[in-house]
Amino acid sequence: MSDKLIIFDTTLRDGEQSPGASMNKDEKLRIARQLERLRVDVIEAGFAASSNGDFEAVQCIANAIKDSTICSLSRANDRDISRAAEALKGANSARIHTFIATSALHMEKKLRMTPDQVFEQARLAVRFARNLVNDVEFSPEDGYRSDVDFLCRVIEAVINEGATTINVPDTVGYAVPELYGAFIKNLRERIPNSDKAIWSVHCHNDLGMAVANSLAGIKIGGARQVECTINGLGERAGNCSLEEVVMAVKTRRDYFQLDLGIDTKHILAASRMVSQTTGFIVQPNKAVVGANAFAHASGIHQDGVLKARDTYEIMRAEDVGWSANKIVLGKLSGRNAFKQRLLELGAQMSSEVEINAAFSKFKELADRKSEIFDEDILALVSDESVTNEKEQYGFVSLSQHSETGERPQATIVFTIDSKEVQGSSDGNGPVDASLKAIESHVKSGAEMVLYSVNAISGSTESQGEVTVRLQDGGRVVNGVGADPDIVVASAKAYLSALNKLHNKSDRVAAQG
Ligand code: KIV
Ligand code: ZN
Repeated sequence: MSDKLIIFDTTLRDGEQSPGASMNKDEKLRIARQLERLRVDVIEAGFAASSNGDFEAVQCIANAIKDSTICSLSRANDRDISRAAEALKGANSARIHTFIATSALHMEKKLRMTPDQVFEQARLAVRFARNLVNDVEFSPEDGYRSDVDFLCRVIEAVINEGATTINVPDTVGYAVPELYGAFIKNLRERIPNSDKAIWSVHCHNDLGMAVANSLAGIKIGGARQVECTINGLGERAGNCSLEEVVMAVKTRRDYFQLDLGIDTKHILAASRMVSQTTGFIVQPNKAVVGANAFAHASGIHQDGVLKARDTYEIMRAEDVGWSANKIVLGKLSGRNAFKQRLLELGAQMSSEVEINAAFSKFKELADRKSEIFDEDILALVSDESVTNEKEQYGFVSLSQHSETGERPQATIVFTIDSKEVQGSSDGNGPVDASLKAIESHVKSGAEMVLYSVNAISGSTESQGEVTVRLQDGGRVVNGVGADPDIVVASAKAYLSALNKLHNKSDRVAAQG
């Protein structure tokens, strides 16, 4: 048994299934590049057969990413598996992950299939996939609630057909650590050919135990792959969080005795990128990546940390990408210093053109804000106007007036296909007036399903980061904008969401 724990990231597949978290191809590629920097072993890039958008995203990631294995999910049928193989053609290392439900409840009520039919379909699917790629993962969906005898039968058969990884999902987050660990151990002991595959854990967080269950599956059950997502993103209460499971195994190496390939200093940048892209804000007290994760508020703790940091710190903030030197750059900083800081933050950009665009945004910001924090830089890197040169809508300027007892008014100038237009409106507040001023021209008719504001770096001098989620005809998109003026940030976020709605070609649908 290998002593390395394989990190299988499914932010772009299971994470993306979270309502409102769907991402387009460019966003997925940007996150995939960050996962590669993080040195994630396997990136589940999507579910190629679920939509053309998802197919293209898997294909584009398979062509671009060279250091991680790229995986596509597929149901246990020939069409899905062929689509996955087709999308993965350009990958240096490709994996097909095929699944079918094995619990009595799912087989009877969802699939309307008998156990024998499911058994046969699982076997044939793995056989078919193995003819297309060497690396095939099989998941018995709702595995943890499946009959153990039946599960043993299915798993033994798919290993005989050549499955190289067996993943045991706790699809509905029902497990508790000791029982889940013992469940995996029992399967491995009972299945005669269990040593021919790597065992994997996949836990959902409905009872808040996804990380604990995964760790038990590793420690008690002997699993050597963990499936996880950045920030624990995922359907309902989400998946096992990558940053937590990785830092638990790393910090408690004395107990787990497992090696990891992960370069943990890129964790924070990955967390910021996923949060900004999806609009799913990270709670301040979230382990590892929350704003307070390394903040010591009580006098006793502060005193202890100043005397010897390990009195209250079990991990070093720098090891996951937090900077000790919070104020990093100002308006006199040059392009090289900016580029160097991007490197240190693990937020490299993919071309010199992007670096130039980000640097000119940085200069604009530095003119208005004397201290530029790491968080400001990470927000710049995620700004779509930096990474996408061609956008339909672009922000130019905004003026608004609000006074107690009077209805706020806003006038906005923005571009539509590079041509400047101006719109004015009143509204319940300055943000409402500004967004209505945009709508007065665009007339998208989209419904706003989320509006949220987050201070990027603590104080009132901070930039506001706004997320706007729009829904139109079954499509849901997120727009993010950052600016020291939160009304401007809101207008930018709204225009960014409209750009995504407009860009129908790269639409990516979440798994149905
Ligand atoms: O939770 C689950 O069962 C899944 C499978 C498709 C692996 O995501
Ligand atoms: Zn899942």
